[in-house]
Amino acid sequence: METKVVKQVQKRLVLVPFPFQGHMTPMFQLGTALQQKGLSVTIAHTRYNAPDPSLYPHLHFQPLTDNLTSNETPTNIGFFNFFKKINKNCESEMREFLVQKIQQEQEACGHVVGIIYDTLMYFAEAVADDLKIPSMVIRTSFATYVLATLSMSRLHAEGYLPLQDSMLEEQVPELYPLRFKDLPFTGEGIEESLALYAITCNLRSSSGIIWNAIDFLENLSLPKLQQHYKVPFFTVGPLHKISLMSSSTSLLEEDKTCMTWLDKQATNTVIYVSLGSLASINAEELAETAWGLANSGQPFLWVIRPGSVIGSEWIELLPEGYIENTGERCHIVKWAPQKLVLAHSAVGGFWSHCGWNSTLESICEGKPMICRPFYVDQKVISRYLSYVWKIGLELEWRLDRKNIESVIRRLFGDKEGDEMRGRATEIKEKIESCMSAGGSSSDSLNNLVEFFL
Ligand code: UDX
Repeated sequence: METKVVKQVQKRLVLVPFPFQGHMTPMFQLGTALQQKGLSVTIAHTRYNAPDPSLYPHLHFQPLTDNLTSNETPTNIGFFNFFKKINKNCESEMREFLVQKIQQEQEACGHVVGIIYDTLMYFAEAVADDLKIPSMVIRTSFATYVLATLSMSRLHAEGYLPLQDSMLEEQVPELYPLRFKDLPFTGEGIEESLALYAITCNLRSSSGIIWNAIDFLENLSLPKLQQHYKVPFFTVGPLHKISLMSSSTSLLEEDKTCMTWLDKQATNTVIYVSLGSLASINAEELAETAWGLANSGQPFLWVIRPGSVIGSEWIELLPEGYIENTGERCHIVKWAPQKLVLAHSAVGGFWSHCGWNSTLESICEGKPMICRPFYVDQKVISRYLSYVWKIGLELEWRLDRKNIESVIRRLFGDKEGDEMRGRATEIKEKIESCMSAGGSSSDSLNNLVEFFL
């Protein structure tokens, strides 16, 4: 009898993340989710903030020469220049790599089935187009923020920008429930921001959009975005839960001592404070935060990232004797294992800059938030947390110890805090059902895999 040898055909996707913590994390999670569904995944990454491949043995890695000198950081040359340079410098190596890879895979009876690129890595789309490989963009941020960015050029043309102080509390036409002060930018750098949005909102030949979103949370915005972008949407969020990835994606070392400290605290008593991977504060804001936290009476776990307090290396500018005086009630680390922290029963609330990853991580654990956004998507997310989902309290922009103390007391106080915690738990449970078989996120992930197969 003749036996037929069927060669296993390897289907490969190449993923191109933007090299910032908040962008790399969801891309790695997506890569892991796709690998778990049977695809081979290669991450083509810049040398800047290069990942450690040994942490992700299930993924393949391809470094791309970004030609950035050690001085050419986003802080030194500005975000816009950094982003343009990376896109210009990585293109030719990406093309070479793909040509080679396609050949190798063909010899092994495999197939590069597509490229998924962060919207900030638009060069990847040009390469995909040249080589006739299907490409798809991933928006790692809040979808409603993308809707807001689509409106910015209209608002500029209608004369709203730069914003007048008198308008900040007013509703933005056609962007309910956003107020002018929730917009991604309000004054400085208008031309540059509009140029950036023109690039990132352009779909080019992308066959669809992957969103780290959950349908029901953004049911006001996703249909409007779908009207604008007439391509398939894959709402596969929350990626950190969908992917079941055990390794950490942190670029900084996580200090796990805080978990032992959390174990000693009572349930729902701790306020966890972290402003993400990019935001910074000045010495006065540090002092107001320190006193606000101390005076609130709650235990607190505070991430102070090295370099995040302007003019200091780490915590040198804290008020004298602060750590001794707050004693066991205060635990400060340089970088925390945030997902574990938020899942800990002692944590009763999260004071956050409202980056999208942090927000998703918090709501998936049913933790209410204190919102102190800085820029871009964070203000839009803060508005949704406080006004739409009603699981967050907004802090005033100018940090003031009395205001901080009072907001923390409200969050941990009986009625208001409990109600927010109740709503947060409901949202957490709804998200869980979206992720289970037949739920919107689970279906979207399956559709995405099918699309590429
Ligand atoms: C940036 C932008 O600021 C944000 O607006 C956008 O939504 C994504 O990119 P970032 O400042 O990095 O975000 O914040 P966020 O998106 O919240 O991501 C931070 C990540 O770092 C989270 O996954 C969080 O778990 C992790 N983190 C943060 C830690 O692991 N430990 C910490 O101590 C702090």
